[in-house]
Amino acid sequence: MVRKIVKFGDPVLETVCDPVPESEFGSPQLHALVQDMFQTMYDARGVGLAAPQVGIPKRLTVIDCTAAEGEGERHVLINPEIVSEEGRQLGEEGCLSIPGFQEKVARPAKIRTRARTEDGEWFELEAKELLARAICHENDHLNGVLFLHHVSRLKRKIIKRKIRNLRKRGEWD
Ligand code: NI
Repeated sequence: MVRKIVKFGDPVLETVCDPVPESEFGSPQLHALVQDMFQTMYDARGVGLAAPQVGIPKRLTVIDCTAAEGEGERHVLINPEIVSEEGRQLGEEGCLSIPGFQEKVARPAKIRTRARTEDGEWFELEAKELLARAICHENDHLNGVLFLHHVSRLKRKIIKRKIRNLRKRGEWD
């Protein structure tokens, strides 16, 4: 099921999310949520989606950086932690909750993350380039942080003003 993507302005996007509790690992509800999140992400042509973006303040993200070429390499990261970061990359970044806006954001060039699967197993993943960027972006969402926090104060102000105007015209909900 494609779910509605929450847009900037909704407080759930600026909430520090709770870990997925032990009791939910392996449950049909958790599997269904992950399926819905992939479907929602592919439908919106994104490469990553965090649970708060579908209104659920839990530490769960789905990522597929190959989504442009059809469904590819799916990553599900639950209760993730970034255990190491290396180097720096600068690149354009957008967010499905802030559609129509892109800015250059600096991220680590390479990261290592530790997370749990839907069944609760811990695993480690090393990532670079776009995947590293996506994991950092989605991990930020779990802490209530948006890519706007990583751009200059002036750019942030301009984007927020444009969004206010879109909302006034009923073009942002
Ligand atoms: Ni985002």
